Amino acid sequence: MFEKLLQETKDSFQQHFSRAPQWIVTAPGRVNVIGEHTDYNEGFVFPMAIERNVIICAAPALPEDNLQPGTAKIYSTAKRNPAIVKLSGKITPGPRVDWFEYVQGVIAGYLAETPSVQADSFVAVIHANVPLGAALSSSAALEVAVGTLLEAITEANVDPVRKALICQHAEHEYAKMPCGIMDQFISAMGAKDHIMLLDCRDYSTRLVPFTSPDLSILIINSRVKHQLSGSEYPERRAACFDSAKILGVNSLRDLSMDQLEAGKNQLSDVQFRRCRHVVGEIKRTNDAVAALEQGNYELFGNLMYESHASMRDDFEISCPELDILVEAARKIGLAGGVYGSRMTGGGFGGCTVSLIKTAEVDSIIASIRSEYKSATGIDADFFVTRPASGAHIIQK
Ligand code: GLA
Repeated sequence: MFEKLLQETKDSFQQHFSRAPQWIVTAPGRVNVIGEHTDYNEGFVFPMAIERNVIICAAPALPEDNLQPGTAKIYSTAKRNPAIVKLSGKITPGPRVDWFEYVQGVIAGYLAETPSVQADSFVAVIHANVPLGAALSSSAALEVAVGTLLEAITEANVDPVRKALICQHAEHEYAKMPCGIMDQFISAMGAKDHIMLLDCRDYSTRLVPFTSPDLSILIINSRVKHQLSGSEYPERRAACFDSAKILGVNSLRDLSMDQLEAGKNQLSDVQFRRCRHVVGEIKRTNDAVAALEQGNYELFGNLMYESHASMRDDFEISCPELDILVEAARKIGLAGGVYGSRMTGGGFGGCTVSLIKTAEVDSIIASIRSEYKSATGIDADFFVTRPASGAHIIQK
């Protein structure tokens, strides 16, 4: 699958620019296995990079490309027209969020924070098979791929944590989405055959091997993205920050369930439930990692179901379609090869992630496919993935 994507990217570059690329880089999407909306609360997350990627092919600009100095011309295979982005001078976010704003934001970040990065004009093609808007971090993959491209072009040595922070900043300022650090971090630093426990307070990590051929990670795309106001994520974030302030802690990471119960009457019902999700989810994430390390997949799976219930009832970020997918998985149960399942990512649509027995992959997919179709009329997308490598340079 990766080879095909790579070939398509090279072919597209050849078509647009009538030559072969000099630099080729890639960055993966991610799935978060457990630990949702904990990252901006300085808690723990447990994501892995997936076998779905953004690839960028690029080359120095030639006179026939007709580029102004200090600019780059970039095609996305998902769009018709190329974008011209700035590589020098004053760079500011555009009035509305378009795909090239992610690119421009990362370039601005690299220029501001890493003066050694000063790329000459270049041309590029971006191509991806990370589904868009499916909570698999297509935007983080794009940002991290752009950072990796700049590193390939300029031979700058940027610490990967710094790289993730620059990409997160681009998402905040140029995509206007106040995300946490998880997506950019795992896209930059994912490790093949490992799921990463990330402490979002100090950015320390523990890589947990996920190599048993008997186990698989199944991702199911509900193919719904509820068109909400866009304020849901910032609202959740604000509720967490406000509650922490009211309860006198720096972040919800510092709050125990007992302290939360003791402070219940200082919070509104909504604030209390938002906090209960985060405090519970931070504990569940650590418990789940311990369970996985001990080979207790049943416990791991139960924690996934608990995580889902907490997101549905307390954090209120699920939706009927995701609930149907999780219930369909639960119905199959251990006997049919499902350990656990939950929605993944920011919420309100997108994907579920399930831990399943490899031997039962086909029957599980067939069963959930028909259950979901008859309940919603929608054909879900299914794919099994191993934990994949983070961003890297393929050619320079
Ligand atoms: C989005 C954000 C992440 C994280 C998740 C929820 O993916 O980009 O930072 O907050 O939602 O866990």
